[in-house]
Amino acid sequence: MRDPDGCYERALARLSRRDMMKIGWLLGAGAIGRPATAVAAVQAPLFTSYPFSLGVASGDPLPDGVVLWTRLAPRPLEGGGMPRAAVPVQWEIARDAAFRMVEQKGEALARPELGHSVHVEVEGLQPARDYWYRFRTGGELSQVGRTRTAPAAGAAVDTLRFGVCGCSHYETGYFTGYRRIAEEAFDFVFHTGDYIYESRADGGRNDHRVRQHGGEEIYTLVDYRNRYAQYKSDPDLIAAHRSAPFIVTWDDHETENNYAGEFDENGTPPAIFLLRRAAAYQAYYEHMPLRRVSFPSGPHMRIYRRLQFGNLVDMSVLDTRQWRSDHACGGDGLRNCPGVLDPSRTMLGAEQEAWLFDNLAGARAQWTVIGQQVLSFARDFVHVNPGARFNMDVWDGYVAARQRLYSRLKETRAPNPIVLSGDVHVHYGADLKMDFTDPASETIGSEFTNTSLSAGGDGADVAANWPQVQRGNPHIRYHSARRGYIACTATPAAMRADFKVLDRVTVPQAPVRVGGSLVVEAGRPGAHTL
Ligand SMILES: [Fe+2]
Repeated sequence: MRDPDGCYERALARLSRRDMMKIGWLLGAGAIGRPATAVAAVQAPLFTSYPFSLGVASGDPLPDGVVLWTRLAPRPLEGGGMPRAAVPVQWEIARDAAFRMVEQKGEALARPELGHSVHVEVEGLQPARDYWYRFRTGGELSQVGRTRTAPAAGAAVDTLRFGVCGCSHYETGYFTGYRRIAEEAFDFVFHTGDYIYESRADGGRNDHRVRQHGGEEIYTLVDYRNRYAQYKSDPDLIAAHRSAPFIVTWDDHETENNYAGEFDENGTPPAIFLLRRAAAYQAYYEHMPLRRVSFPSGPHMRIYRRLQFGNLVDMSVLDTRQWRSDHACGGDGLRNCPGVLDPSRTMLGAEQEAWLFDNLAGARAQWTVIGQQVLSFARDFVHVNPGARFNMDVWDGYVAARQRLYSRLKETRAPNPIVLSGDVHVHYGADLKMDFTDPASETIGSEFTNTSLSAGGDGADVAANWPQVQRGNPHIRYHSARRGYIACTATPAAMRADFKVLDRVTVPQAPVRVGGSLVVEAGRPGAHTL
């Protein structure tokens, strides 16, 4: 059954009284609904290898709290290597990196059902402040992570700096971009998805691959756990999480390439594919600093959510994978494919779309940010090359849904819309037009698309098709086909995107540089170069 809320509390509420008694007996009287410390658990074991091999993370900052995350995995690539029991983990959060001023501490249980991951939702913190956190178990101490709370609701905020990254393919490049993100010490980092890739190990068949996935294409929960563990063992990725809270959303490769709702790209019966999706979604929850509202429920998880940063940024994070209609015209993006204009097709699903449209009606901050996965602006290859196709996996394949979104932005006058996206492994900065076929039509916002962190290898200054894309799409203001991320700076006057690029990811430790910058001035739609 579909449960768009995917909510732990609701799942508990659905259990019968008999089920509750059974669970209560298993966990000890009064365990349900109590803090994790009330549950009987094994004594923390002595570890033969370091249990915090996957680092620590924090995420989804609120004015009074953040989520703290870790996962115990002394043998990370072999299912974790933990005893088959719940293990207590102590956590603490302090106002200084040396932990002289500990603000709060507590204990959580790392449970085998969740791969011995820990999600702690800390509350009662001060707004717009740096904090440091760490975990301890079995005589072992984790690394220290720095995090930061959001500004108070409605507070005047001078500046907010955040990173935007995605498409981190382990095989095709080093994660130097994550290291450079760590050095930025952003207020937060938004990950646009493709945090892992599900593909089989290349096995050395491709010369451009600098390292190998462990094993074959992933299908089961243990497969996905081991893949996340391989990625999260990377010291550059660990450093990025230690530097700032992450706000994450998924794209396709956390599950399967180009899947759309219940449909994978191989024609697998939906009931079968949903078993794989359930494993993928659970592993995603286990490895990300997400709140309980995102607790998985079979093949469903609610990851769309809203985060606010004082009076400066109102951010809606979307899920354009779980609820979308199948690709139109069998995925063949002919110009006259009728499906893209079919208003019954959806990118977000009815419930998420209504939620987003409500957010837009109530948006009061200076910048209305929509953080999601795939290009929302049109990229017309056909205009200058009649044999080319539209990309049916992005909003170009859901034109009626895009028009609903843009029309809603226009009618609600949501202040200064900025869409964030990734997926295509190149940087773009573009203006959002009510009619992309008419350059003179109204601009209702701008979009910043981050290139891949490493997917695709070193890349080039521009993509091979850039001359055609540029000619057919005058609303695109910036492009680079190098690897990297975006550094965004929001102020009351402007939103600035510095498109950061690395010239090499096939060698470690490359420097980063600014490939170009765009600025959107508040109250004046459209991005321009400095
Ligand atoms: Fe990707």
